[in-house]
Amino acid sequence: MADKLLELNIEKIVYGGFGLARHGGKTYLVRYSAPREIVRAEVYREKKDYGEAVAVETLLPSNQRRDPVCPYYEFCGGCQFQHIDYDTQLKIKKDNLLESLERMAGLNLTEVETIPSPQEFGYRVRVQFKVKKGHVGFVRWDNRDIVSVENCPVAHPKINELIPSLRELTNQVKDLQEIHVLYSPTEEEFLIKLVTPTYLDKELLKKLRKSYIPPSVVGVGNYFRLRNGLHKRYFVGREYTFISVGDFKYRVSNDSFFQTNRFLWEKFANLVVDKAEFKKALELYCGVGFFTLPLAKKGNFIEGSDSNPSAVNDAQYNAKLNGIENAIFLKSTAFKHLQLRAGEVLDTVVLDPPRSGLIEKEIELLLENKPESIVYISCNPTTLARDIKRLSKAYRLEKSCVIDIFPQSYHVESVNFLRIKTP
Ligand SMILES: C[S@@+](CC[C@H](N)C(=O)[O-])C[C@H]1O[C@@H](n2cnc3c(N)ncnc32)[C@H](O)[C@@H]1O
Repeated sequence: MADKLLELNIEKIVYGGFGLARHGGKTYLVRYSAPREIVRAEVYREKKDYGEAVAVETLLPSNQRRDPVCPYYEFCGGCQFQHIDYDTQLKIKKDNLLESLERMAGLNLTEVETIPSPQEFGYRVRVQFKVKKGHVGFVRWDNRDIVSVENCPVAHPKINELIPSLRELTNQVKDLQEIHVLYSPTEEEFLIKLVTPTYLDKELLKKLRKSYIPPSVVGVGNYFRLRNGLHKRYFVGREYTFISVGDFKYRVSNDSFFQTNRFLWEKFANLVVDKAEFKKALELYCGVGFFTLPLAKKGNFIEGSDSNPSAVNDAQYNAKLNGIENAIFLKSTAFKHLQLRAGEVLDTVVLDPPRSGLIEKEIELLLENKPESIVYISCNPTTLARDIKRLSKAYRLEKSCVIDIFPQSYHVESVNFLRIKTP
């Protein structure tokens, strides 16, 4: 790390979790800083028009600063906001969303509802641990090494209780790279994925399961990473668990996505579903049917789709499990699904894409199909604002809400309601 030190005045916190400061005609992005404080910062990356720095001393602290609870916070790349009080975290996320919508979509929203997480810590039911040289933890932000952790304050306490067994596993499986854990608070059980570059002998895994893995881990799979995606080699034990949210029960397979903040499951579903009213709706990127099942109760017919076959199998099963007869599910990309329904009358399209947002062709099809309303659930305000700008040819953004499913991190989840413009 370079040892250039600068005294920087933090204007605000920008999307990504960095404090923004200007010095010598250059912009600096400053880690571990809080709004409107003066810090001494060490510059660790210098580019032509901006630099990256880390606050090493607070010269004039912000009154929104607090002590982080996590002993690894200084190094761990997982959280960015533990040193900032929770109300300010929420304000930062709301401002990040408003700024993106203004800068990229030319929209000046006056009101954005912000829904806090009822608890700031212990909320995550899904955690991806990295493994290196017997250490189980997370990637350091400064040198990409592993911070070995005994406890992660944002993880469900039961996941933390599992860490000693996971560490023992790393001694037994020499080339273990990652361990992904899903905990079901409903069933009080775990599913785990062991990621290795080479095949993990199945018989060995069965033995390890008996000796080192507690019985509450009901299923263990061996996976490998290829082009950033995870691929399954095989599975031992049960490949799914169940999670209840309000009146609904979901089967969740180890290969399916499930929302991670257990304290907001019900509020999140209600936020998306409460005002829905339709004869026919589509839901793109539907996962295991987290929103689809409650949505089905609000209209005549809904068709969900996801490109992940595991999620679609779960969604189909979940519709039956919950007695929902007016929802069907397709294994399809969002684009193919929109293409399939081109020209049909749709009242609502609900969509929840990954961070990259929508592709151009999906937007074109939405603009051709012209459903009466679109509910856009986004985990990235930058791609959201880009997509809303494109959709604004035919749609008006009626309302945006931030729902804080990722306290302590810079991630901004929002639900955005768009309605067709009247001529
Ligand atoms: C953020 S998750 C949301 C899932 C669901 N809405 C929920 O709340 O549980 C995004 C989902 O998009 C799916 N996905 C990713 N790329 C896709 C694509 N091009 N077409 C359809 N689904 C896709 C993933 O499999 C994943 O289930």
